[in-house]
Amino acid sequence: MWSFSVGILNSLPSAEGARMSVDRGVEDLPEAGSAPLIIDAEFTEVEDKGMPTLDAVDEISIARARTPLELPQSGPTPVGRARVVTIINQKGGVGKTTSVINIAAQLALRGHKILVVDADSQGNCATGLGVNKSRVKTTTRDLILNPESAVESRHATAVDGVHIIVGDRTLVGLEQEMLRQLGRERRLTEALTPLLPHYDVVIIDTPPSLGLVTINALVASDGIIIPVQTEYFALEGLAMLAGTIREVRGLLNPRLGVDGVMLTMHAPTLLNEQVASEVKEAFPELLIEPAIRRNIKLAEAPSHGIPIHLHDPNSNGGQDYQKVSSVLESRWGL
Ligand SMILES: Nc1ncnc2c1ncn2[C@@H]1O[C@H](COP(=O)(O)OP(=O)(O)OP(=O)(O)O)[C@@H](O)[C@H]1O
Ligand SMILES: [Mg+2]
Repeated sequence: MWSFSVGILNSLPSAEGARMSVDRGVEDLPEAGSAPLIIDAEFTEVEDKGMPTLDAVDEISIARARTPLELPQSGPTPVGRARVVTIINQKGGVGKTTSVINIAAQLALRGHKILVVDADSQGNCATGLGVNKSRVKTTTRDLILNPESAVESRHATAVDGVHIIVGDRTLVGLEQEMLRQLGRERRLTEALTPLLPHYDVVIIDTPPSLGLVTINALVASDGIIIPVQTEYFALEGLAMLAGTIREVRGLLNPRLGVDGVMLTMHAPTLLNEQVASEVKEAFPELLIEPAIRRNIKLAEAPSHGIPIHLHDPNSNGGQDYQKVSSVLESRWGL
């Protein structure tokens, strides 16, 4: 039996390349020089004990069911500075960016000062907040490579009280560049520190991956919010995210915890309802209600460069983000 494991730090691209210990079937592999580079994959051979016993099967299913439950709760915000929150789920298209934009906008509407940091090369936060990326000179990439540029990196948005540090294509390739830098996991923390006393909340949008830029966001954060789309496979991948959080807490940021799990793109179908109750059961304390309903107005708003409260505040999506933001406002003691 072959087992395959990838850890968070060794899932980052590494100059060391592949680290494989394979004792069997070597003759089947291509020549080392012509083999494609497998990044830090570790193959280990374990003794094949035949079919697993019933006990073993039970253990596996219990472990599977238990792992996502081991999400640590976050603590309070240190006095005198912004709460830093990362919106994260390595699954793509689950509503991370939509949540960043609309939670930021809703909190600003209630008088809080918000900084959005877009750590995703897709750069959708800028578009959704009415910022023309082509006119922006200093981005999240500059912020990470040159933390002193933090103050000039901020831009105003279409929403009063929301500033943004724009993500764009220049973030592609940044992870490779950062590998050569000392303290590479703490670059964003360092860059954000002087800005924190000037805001109430800093919200970081992340790409659908657990790479070095995402790790930087976790190291800089007090809490994370995990948007979960109420579809089949919703909880797949959360075990890996939970593992990443554990490792970041253990090695780099003991403060990190989960502020909440929110349900997104929810529709009143049987499947959606079943998944929603599964998530509720798995995270009773962390769940942020109500679920954000699937709503075309939420998908339309970014094409106008505005959040939902300026596009259609009374739509289902507008009402849901308003309620979720109010839950977060009291959870964060704002
Ligand atoms: N509640 C909703 N109802 C309808 N459409 C939605 C809703 N939330 C998000 N969308 C749409 O779904 C798509 C994906 O959403 P979004 O970009 O927020 O996800 P994401 O998790 O940030 O994606 P990625 O992983 O690529 O960064 C977008 O087109 C967005 O407008
Ligand atoms: Mg996104």
